[in-house]
Amino acid sequence: MASLTLPQRIRKEFPILQREVHGKPLVYLDNAASAQKPLAVIEGQREYLSNYHANIHRGAHHLAQLATEAYEGARTKIADHIGAASTDEIIFTGGSTDAINLVAQAWGRANLQEGDVVLVTQMEHHANIVPWQMVCSEKGSRLEAVNVHEDGTLDMADFAAQLERHRPKLVGVVHASNTLGTINPVADLCAQARAAGAVTLVDGSQALPHLGIDVQEIGCDFYVATGHKAYGPTGIGFLYGRREMLEAMPPWRGGGEMIKRVSFEGTTYNELPHKFEAGTPHISGGIALGIALDWMNGIGTAEISAHETALVQHAHSALNTLSGLRIVGTAPQKVGVVSLVVEGLHPYDLGTLLDGQGFAVRTGHHCTEPLMDHLGLESGTLRMSFAAYTTREEIDRAVIALDRAISMLR
Ligand SMILES: Cc1ncc(COP(=O)(O)O)c(C=O)c1O
Repeated sequence: MASLTLPQRIRKEFPILQREVHGKPLVYLDNAASAQKPLAVIEGQREYLSNYHANIHRGAHHLAQLATEAYEGARTKIADHIGAASTDEIIFTGGSTDAINLVAQAWGRANLQEGDVVLVTQMEHHANIVPWQMVCSEKGSRLEAVNVHEDGTLDMADFAAQLERHRPKLVGVVHASNTLGTINPVADLCAQARAAGAVTLVDGSQALPHLGIDVQEIGCDFYVATGHKAYGPTGIGFLYGRREMLEAMPPWRGGGEMIKRVSFEGTTYNELPHKFEAGTPHISGGIALGIALDWMNGIGTAEISAHETALVQHAHSALNTLSGLRIVGTAPQKVGVVSLVVEGLHPYDLGTLLDGQGFAVRTGHHCTEPLMDHLGLESGTLRMSFAAYTTREEIDRAVIALDRAISMLR
């Protein structure tokens, strides 16, 4: 008997994939915005809420111990998953946006000065632009951006030139672009940035669900990711920071948990990682993110990556048969993201017609407005994005539905 494909093995674990939308079977191609959840994650969160919910760290009672063990266990899973040297280097956050704001506010406010430069790329998500603009305007520093080529690859010559010209204090780069799919050579970029004296931050929001990650190999100072794109819940993510960096940074948010001793005369702060974790966290989210990573590791990130690479190639060749359609982002190394535009048609109109047929795609600027401006795409793109459960047949059906939608609008 022929062995089953990855989607054939795992689709039954995703209850939502069985549902219909507008009377049609759901074809979920909006995974870059948020992935669906396997039963293990749904049940794991339910199990915590039903059986051992309590606040963590402080309680002397049994439930508090169970909840603390599970939450701290999830921190260990994250550290292991990305190759961190210690669990102290993993700070739970509300997601990638929250993690980048933490670095911008804690590291940025303490280290940026008038005239300093923060260097990002033109393909960054707003989450890796706006927090830097905010701290730069406060400190009199400025934000510069590395050019992106027409095919969606990063302009490495411009990167080297801007490093040389600006000697930036921090370089922030997306590991995989949510709009173009491009996988950036982050280890090389971090090595060059480090050699030029810059601190490095990698936005791994789109890498976590698709690629194996090793922060030691990448050689970054900070790495951020968000849980809900990696089969986990919303409102939870993490910041990895090299211990020396985190230790040297002042805390950002103040309150319970992040302190050692408080008096009206003054406060001393807690050790890592708690120094950056004020208040009661998203306990069920943290536990479920750990379960999501277990679930991915049960398959293996290599198999997930290979599956999605094959889907991208398949989607590219199927879409290229449609006339007037252009794929935006054709870098040789891509995660499961395919953005496209169709001559003379608005992506939103196409997306609405697809939705009517049960296809969930995303249209617009995908929180990368500066990239859209740079590429001259003021109406944005239509984006299909894939996950471990996406099938070739779903892509084929989406291409047929898109062809029909194009004919209807022409
Ligand atoms: C590349 C990238 N960075 C950052 C984010 C922000 O993630 P979150 O909204 O979960 O904080 C996203 C989400 O779309 C993303 O794709």
